[in-house]
Amino acid sequence: MSLYDAKIIGTGKHVPSRVLTNFDLEQMLDTSDEWITTRTGMKERRIASENEAASDLAYEASLRAIKAAGIRARDIDLIVVGTISPDYPFPSTACLLQKKLDVPDCIAFDLSAGCTGFIYAASVAQQFVSTGKSKVALVVGVEILTKITNWEDRNTAVLFGDGAGAVIMTRTESSDISKIIDFDLSADGTYSDLLIQPAGGSRMPATVETVQNNKHVVEMDGNKVYKLAVKSMTQSCELLLKRNNLKINAIDWLIPHQANLRIIEAIGKRLAIDPEKVIVTIEKYGNTSSSTIPIALDDSIRSNRIRKGDLVILVSFGAGLTSGGILFRY
Ligand SMILES: CC(C)(COP(=O)(O)OP(=O)(O)OC[C@H]1O[C@@H](n2cnc3c(N)ncnc32)[C@H](O)[C@@H]1OP(=O)(O)O)[C@@H](O)C(=O)NCCC(=O)NCCS
Repeated sequence: MSLYDAKIIGTGKHVPSRVLTNFDLEQMLDTSDEWITTRTGMKERRIASENEAASDLAYEASLRAIKAAGIRARDIDLIVVGTISPDYPFPSTACLLQKKLDVPDCIAFDLSAGCTGFIYAASVAQQFVSTGKSKVALVVGVEILTKITNWEDRNTAVLFGDGAGAVIMTRTESSDISKIIDFDLSADGTYSDLLIQPAGGSRMPATVETVQNNKHVVEMDGNKVYKLAVKSMTQSCELLLKRNNLKINAIDWLIPHQANLRIIEAIGKRLAIDPEKVIVTIEKYGNTSSSTIPIALDDSIRSNRIRKGDLVILVSFGAGLTSGGILFRY
């Protein structure tokens, strides 16, 4: 039962300081700046240091979101972290983040939905807020995919970067125009083998062989994922528009998952949205998986592109395959 509406009241992001450019990749692999730029839109990405883990990036992003929201960390009663590159298989990165932020007893868990992790996490948090179970929720998308990247595979190594984005969500007051209006989540496990980290779980536990055979890294069928990404993200946006009786012109901003500029442009074309309204950050950060959307959201709010009252759609897809979108008024 929905008792309350939820809204986003603060955002934050954090990316590692080390920059890896396409020109750096030229020195490491049989690739070129020209190929990467024209095929993906990426120019550079951030790489975590050896001693940086997901909860470290998540912590910095969360501190900024907490400050922007004007709340205290101890007000938080729910932490949901979307990630597929947690500090450990267990305990959850959400619990590690709770400890770092010094948040007293609260609900804390990770959520695995690939690059749709933030959309899933924010939708779950919205449900907690709308039923009154949570008053102040922290939602994070964080990823250090470069630690599970096969640096000898040019098909995947050029694509990923590291980063974290966070939002604070609370219930609305009667005077608020800001609110999360709707979300759409979906999954199709028949495509689970298209994007996978094969080893390290109970199917293929870590052994000397799994390490020698490079099975602990991201494997992807890029072409198939590409087509399904365009289809699923377009469908999600169309569903949100239709269900809420909106035409595309009503949308002020579209923030799609930043996996490939050509995917972003294809979605924009299918939706017939003004390209000026589509937020693109891919050239700076590459594909940071579950954190692309909260990072782009924070970038857009802090640069005054997204303003109070704007109507925004966030949409993503990822391993699973999962997909989903959120429609909200900021
Ligand atoms: C991965 C991706 C960029 C590849 O682009 P593409 O245009 O489909 O390219 P292809 O895979 O068809 O490869 C074309 C050629 O470029 C080559 N190539 C692949 N990576 C390369 C690289 N980094 N540098 C140079 N050449 C490369 C391929 O070997 C292939 O060569 P061939 O024609 O001699 O066999 C694209 O498929 C993609 O973005 N897919 C979606 C990925 C994604 O979103 N993943 C995350 C999901 S959350």
